[in-house]
Amino acid sequence: MSITVGQDEETATAPEAEPAGAVEQYLAEFVADRLLPDNLRAAIEYALLGGGKRLRPVLVIRAFEAVAGPGADVGPAMPAAGAIEMIHCFSLVHDDLPAMDDDDLRRGRPTLHKATNEAMAILAGDAMTGLAFELVATRVPDPTLAGLITRELAIATNDMIAGQVYDTLPDFDDTIDPIDRLRTIHSNKTGALIRGSVRMGAILAGASDNQLDSLTQYGQTMGLMFQVVDDLLDVTQTTEHLGKAAGKDAGMGKMTYPGLLGVDGSRAEVERLRTLATESLQSFGPEATPLRELCDYFAVRTR
Ligand code: IPE
Ligand code: IPE
Ligand code: MG
Ligand code: MG
Ligand code: MG
Repeated sequence: MSITVGQDEETATAPEAEPAGAVEQYLAEFVADRLLPDNLRAAIEYALLGGGKRLRPVLVIRAFEAVAGPGADVGPAMPAAGAIEMIHCFSLVHDDLPAMDDDDLRRGRPTLHKATNEAMAILAGDAMTGLAFELVATRVPDPTLAGLITRELAIATNDMIAGQVYDTLPDFDDTIDPIDRLRTIHSNKTGALIRGSVRMGAILAGASDNQLDSLTQYGQTMGLMFQVVDDLLDVTQTTEHLGKAAGKDAGMGKMTYPGLLGVDGSRAEVERLRTLATESLQSFGPEATPLRELCDYFAVRTR
């Protein structure tokens, strides 16, 4: 399947569809088997299952295949894929809290703190973080790999949290250019988990230093592009279409790409980043086709 930029997203098959189903099932079984208070389990299942594009776990799997070759058994990538989605869902639950973005709608449903209460949303976010690390620590069998993956997951999580601080409680030095501030916010709050996803898949498949460098560059650029598109959708789409509140960023005084570069300037930036991300994969052959397609698709997504 190939997708050209500008193609109507609604007529294209989302390239993440198939591995996303496997991740959904893997996470459902992991949470079902874990001893947890019933109300906490229900809250985690609400936030984690039955929605979401699953981009990050799909990137773990596709980066694994780019190194191991298409058709490789992706079982070894599943713990990291599940873990990064749990960290992502924790970040969304806390992002929506009244003290953060104060949102009522997520993935087309009430946010977790609206469906339950704030204490449960805080605790379910905390629990998903712990469970993510438990998943890789208990299910990546090789101890050296388990250590490397735990390190990647920790760095990605902590950089994401730093990004949320830059976004929510900015304290930049006056001398830093606005575009550099914005790049710092977005590369951390959203880029870190996307970059970490690609790196974990590559490491699990035994990537060489050169392969890991190229894939890290891809993840870095794709991660920034993903948030530029998220900012664009906030100003160009409806709440109903997005399944989350549209038109929120400016009202909350957030620094965004459309706010700084305008809609056309932001679209040009998406195209620049899409091209750069694709160029990072030049040393790979058809084994990286799914990664190229994901980048093309997520450049033109509308939700
Ligand atoms: C939303 O992420 C938050 C950002 C980092 C932009 P996604 O757009 O991947 O959200 P889901 O997982 O599909 O709901
Ligand atoms: C979210 O950025 C980043 C994280 C959750 C880490 P946004 O605040 O823009 O995401 P949405 O628009 O609420 O999904
Ligand atoms: Mg936010
Ligand atoms: Mg938000
Ligand atoms: Mg947003």
